[in-house]
Amino acid sequence: MIEQVKKYIEEVEQAGFKKLDEVEAFRIKFIGKKGIIPALFGDFKNVVKEDRKEMGILLNDLKNGVQKKITELKDQLENLQADSSEYVDLFMPVNKEAGSRHPLSIVRNEIIDIFSRIGFNVAEGPEIEDDWHNFTALNFPEEHPARDMQDTFFIEKNPDVALRTHTSSVQVRVMENEKPPIRSIFPGRVFRNEAISARAHCIFHQVEGLYIDKNVSFADLKQTLMYFAKEMFGEETGIRLRPSYFPFTEPSAEMDISCHICGGKGCNICKYSGWVEILGCGMVDPNVLKSSNIDAEEYTGFAFGMGIERITMLKYQIKDLRLFFENDLKFLRQFESAI
Ligand code: PHE
Repeated sequence: MIEQVKKYIEEVEQAGFKKLDEVEAFRIKFIGKKGIIPALFGDFKNVVKEDRKEMGILLNDLKNGVQKKITELKDQLENLQADSSEYVDLFMPVNKEAGSRHPLSIVRNEIIDIFSRIGFNVAEGPEIEDDWHNFTALNFPEEHPARDMQDTFFIEKNPDVALRTHTSSVQVRVMENEKPPIRSIFPGRVFRNEAISARAHCIFHQVEGLYIDKNVSFADLKQTLMYFAKEMFGEETGIRLRPSYFPFTEPSAEMDISCHICGGKGCNICKYSGWVEILGCGMVDPNVLKSSNIDAEEYTGFAFGMGIERITMLKYQIKDLRLFFENDLKFLRQFESAI
């Protein structure tokens, strides 16, 4: 029996396999329930007294040898497999995003894209503003009724602090901090104390645009907005400017686009006029430039501001603004393919 065990020890030392299931068979052969080693241990009681010590040592050697061999072989084969497996491209894009973009994000990103193609960069400002940036620097005189154009949420403890009512506040911040030429857009959230309905919400999103340089004219404004309208709503889109009033622009205008639903023939989206309003705009009032220490003799500029909800509703024919805030999956999933 001692000879037999010595042979096994040799066999184990020399063992080498190319496949993991061969290692498994080897394991079963030696240490499986009905394997060689349990059987040898079972026979130990029959070993004559003089041989017991040697036999004990040999059996333990065999058992440890088998364990060691199995771990060794497994390690080897697993490493080999990892090395020779197919090349893994860690930079490969995932097939699909988990979830989908919100329609407002899709349209905001599209607006940013459109303006960045003609050299506008993006800036942001705070949602909690002071009176100076939201009103005074934008040429809203104190106690002037124009302040009531936008129902403001004030902070009770400090009437100087409010939630910004428009992204025009970012114009002021950028003009205070940068020297012309300035060519930027400012996307962001704005707040107005309005009753929530299909057409209005107390929280919504705007994108403001500002261009200040020498010799910027109303023609530049018109051309820029025409480019935007065609990129956003299609090449066949027409624009029309109607005179309007904003304290921070002079002259001011509101811009309509030809109704892209009925092509101008008249439908319920354009209320049978053939036109839909999409933004406010104008030439930056010299008083606004002066408030931000920009020389109004040397520089002129234009500004415009649009509601992202409004553009999105027109683009995707969404009839109720509240859908944007309800996070109903049946609504949101319709935009998965638009990413
Ligand atoms: N701030 C205006 C609004 O919220 C939009 C606007 C921006 C108009 C810039 C003119 C110029 O209604």
